[in-house]
Amino acid sequence: MFREFDISQIDISGQVPEEEVLRQRYFMAKCRELIQKKKEALGRDLYIHILTVGCQMNAKDSEKLLGIAREIGYVETDKEDQADLVIYNTCTVRENANQKVYGRLGYLNSLKKHNPELLIGLCGCMVQEPSVVETIQKSYRFVDMVFGTHNIFRLAEILHRRLSGEKTVIDVWKDTDKIVEDLPAERKYSFKSGVNIMFGCNNFCSYCIVPYVRGRERSRNHQDILQEIRELAADGVIEVMLLGQNVNSYGKKYGAYDTKVQEDTDMTFAKLLQEVEKVEGIERIRFMTSHPKDLSDELIHVMKESKKICRHLHLPLQSGSTEILRRMNRHYTKEQYLTLAEKIRREIPDISLTTDIIVGFPGETEEDFRETLDVVRKVQFDSAFTFIYSKRTGTPAATMDNQVPEDVVHDRFDRLLAEVQQIASKMSGRDVGTTQTVLVEGVDEKTEGYLTGRLSNNVMVHFKGEPSLIGTLVPVYLEESRGFYYLGTLQ
Ligand code: 5AD
Ligand code: SF4
Repeated sequence: MFREFDISQIDISGQVPEEEVLRQRYFMAKCRELIQKKKEALGRDLYIHILTVGCQMNAKDSEKLLGIAREIGYVETDKEDQADLVIYNTCTVRENANQKVYGRLGYLNSLKKHNPELLIGLCGCMVQEPSVVETIQKSYRFVDMVFGTHNIFRLAEILHRRLSGEKTVIDVWKDTDKIVEDLPAERKYSFKSGVNIMFGCNNFCSYCIVPYVRGRERSRNHQDILQEIRELAADGVIEVMLLGQNVNSYGKKYGAYDTKVQEDTDMTFAKLLQEVEKVEGIERIRFMTSHPKDLSDELIHVMKESKKICRHLHLPLQSGSTEILRRMNRHYTKEQYLTLAEKIRREIPDISLTTDIIVGFPGETEEDFRETLDVVRKVQFDSAFTFIYSKRTGTPAATMDNQVPEDVVHDRFDRLLAEVQQIASKMSGRDVGTTQTVLVEGVDEKTEGYLTGRLSNNVMVHFKGEPSLIGTLVPVYLEESRGFYYLGTLQ
């Protein structure tokens, strides 16, 4: 967690400190001096814009990047063409995301013609792929800084190298066991926040590139997590989302710290949730993502008893075929998933169950696909993200035989989507006619005078109200279901 420090007190005339946090503060102070000079020369502020794609982890990383940039002296802008520093935080889970990035980089280069000050930084998961770095070096030499997922906390140091005259700074680490605490982060919302509880993934699902680009699984110290949440609560945050690729395996392997020694503890994810529940001021607790193979009875019990843990569980299915699941390296069968879903619904009847499903994994037959449809019908997911299998070089699935023809995959995808949507619209209407607590998140951009907020089960609600309610929990009568959201009346 970031504890206030006065950057002007940092001695930048001496040696670069070795300890990571001090080292980064040192470079923040160094950059600040250079940026201040630039501002004076230009007679204006310098602006930063961060473009973020992908998951909650990336969103959280971008908050950290923004926190560092603000400390250095940049002012945030939502306009790319006003920015003097654009950082593109990328995702690489599926192939099509990569193509978009190259297109966008071309556009950013055109902005350099109007603003010679503009610096372009590329970071995130895509950069962890060596072929991407090669492409940037060969064909996108106007990119100023390239850094990966493991060293985003080094933004100040990397920027300092660029500002000191190095041309394209490339700093990508293959892996790390390092966890760096106590650097700044700038929250997007004042009332809710993501909190990293672990980094990386050790599951190696055979289609997935995440373990290669986010590295080995490592948990944060629970004392640090709880301290961060206490400080967030003191700062007005009422909802936290605990983030990890596989939160259910929290506590199995801890990260390496510069200054602290991690003691072995018997802290499990369920126990951590109970500790978070005790933090005064926190009203809602969410988490993302759970792996079915590690979801314990202890967790179901803790969720059931909790007043604060939200009634939402995202439980990626990926496929309903036991044979495909085996080849995906998921470590559960169709029957085990169904039993688990049934148990959760039985114990926590008002829970919303959502999922991820991949269509067209190598070797998927019509029979396998029907098993997926069968699970979808049986579980009645409240909503589901459906994906077409995307071949990721370096993963075991990329070299598997029997890649499914494109037309077959599209046909299956359309059939799955129709099924999922029909069930989702039915499920999302189940609370019509009741009054529920809503966390007001913002104004409804589409209808004047309306606000938008979220139920505990993550479904959105639109209702008439004053913007002063943003960030508070209010009772709303759910009048009508519009498929994926409700229209309601403030009570
Ligand atoms: N192709 C398609 N979807 C994928 N996902 C992960 N890797 C791939 C891939 N290669 C999906 C999974 C995961 C979600 C975040 O992205 O469903 O749960
Ligand atoms: Fe990828 Fe599987 Fe890890 Fe999720 S659990 S990030 S799908 S390897």
